[in-house]
Amino acid sequence: MQAATVTDATTTARITAASTATPTALPRTRSRRPLPRGLTAGLFGVGAALPEREIDNQHFEDRLDTNDAWIVRRTGIRTRRWLDEGAPLAPLAAEACTAALADAGRSADEVDHVIVTTITPDRITPGLAPEVARLIGAHGAAAVDVNAACAGFLYGLDQAAALVETGRARVVLVCGAEALSRLTDQEDRGTAVLFGDGAGAVVVAAGELDRGVSRFVLGCDPEQGDLLYADNEDRKLRMEGREVYRHAVARMTEATTEALAASDLTVDDLDLFVAHQANSRIIEAAANELGVPHEKLAINVDRVANTSSASIPLALAQAERDGLLQPGATVALAAFGAGFVWGAGIVSWKELRHVCA
Ligand SMILES: CC(C)(COP(=O)(O)OP(=O)(O)OC[C@H]1O[C@@H](n2cnc3c(N)ncnc32)[C@H](O)[C@@H]1OP(=O)(O)O)[C@@H](O)C(=O)NCCC(=O)NCCS
Repeated sequence: MQAATVTDATTTARITAASTATPTALPRTRSRRPLPRGLTAGLFGVGAALPEREIDNQHFEDRLDTNDAWIVRRTGIRTRRWLDEGAPLAPLAAEACTAALADAGRSADEVDHVIVTTITPDRITPGLAPEVARLIGAHGAAAVDVNAACAGFLYGLDQAAALVETGRARVVLVCGAEALSRLTDQEDRGTAVLFGDGAGAVVVAAGELDRGVSRFVLGCDPEQGDLLYADNEDRKLRMEGREVYRHAVARMTEATTEALAASDLTVDDLDLFVAHQANSRIIEAAANELGVPHEKLAINVDRVANTSSASIPLALAQAERDGLLQPGATVALAAFGAGFVWGAGIVSWKELRHVCA
């Protein structure tokens, strides 16, 4: 099966060149008339971008005390993409955003707010979002980074829905963009094999919709922070894998159960379950507890590994390409990450109702 849209060298060169060019548009703030409250936020476009450089399991077999069979059996991961050393992440994120806007039939000029979820911004400050806004030409849009580790995309999506439903923004881009290769300890076989780089984005806008992006269930357990972290000195991901595994299954299962109940739905109403792509065994264990059959699971961790907050939009893009997502499909999203933080929500996919913004 084909991987998500791969960054094409020409596009990257074009975007990189754009990043060094003098911006033509003058900065301005948005003063659009707000929408009335009471509309529903919906998902209307998806885009994905992966670096060209592919790192297969043989790469680790050659360097560490590990092998392809162990990695596939314990994680489901067969390959992943990494940015070249020193390459910026913003052009990859911009490519995903541009693809999402095209998919939604929107122009960059319509974007009011750019939310980029990441734990690997190109610089400490400014964040990734202002640079992404500049690269895609969303001049005048608000731009902010959100760091909620592997649950970042769901936190960003919840905030985007709130902005749209309170009338504070009409069109919001939510982009998960990560370069976890920068945070991976290449000497540690327990983590080195697990992570990949990539970016995925969706367009959130308001409409008179049946479900749209319904209320999300978000959670945090700060007592568990030491089980998964990267600190300022070491700058490498450190993890108690088995414990993280156990918490990830339990929290994603509970949150999805709550989100279904809050939406007056049961598992039988779901067309697809898109969980954070950390490990295929985690996804399958959560699905088993929930009673979601295998054919309703989105799995692309085999091709991209764990891309943290980029994983859900990358999985959504892949699922749509694989024919698993049709307009109006009811989808459960669930994620879990360092903090611990987690979330789940029920969304309808590209609902074809009256779109107001
Ligand atoms: C990391 C993970 C794949 C390990 O799988 P596991 O089945 O839990 O394996 P364990 O950690 O119990 O380790 C089993 C053995 O495999 C070894 N091992 C770990 N990584 C290995 C590798 N890449 N190759 C070969 N052996 C490895 C361990 O050292 C251990 O050896 P021991 O029994 O001699 O001590 C799994 O725990 C996991 O996916 N955890 C969650 C990771 C995650 O999702 N993190 C981000 C959350 S957002």
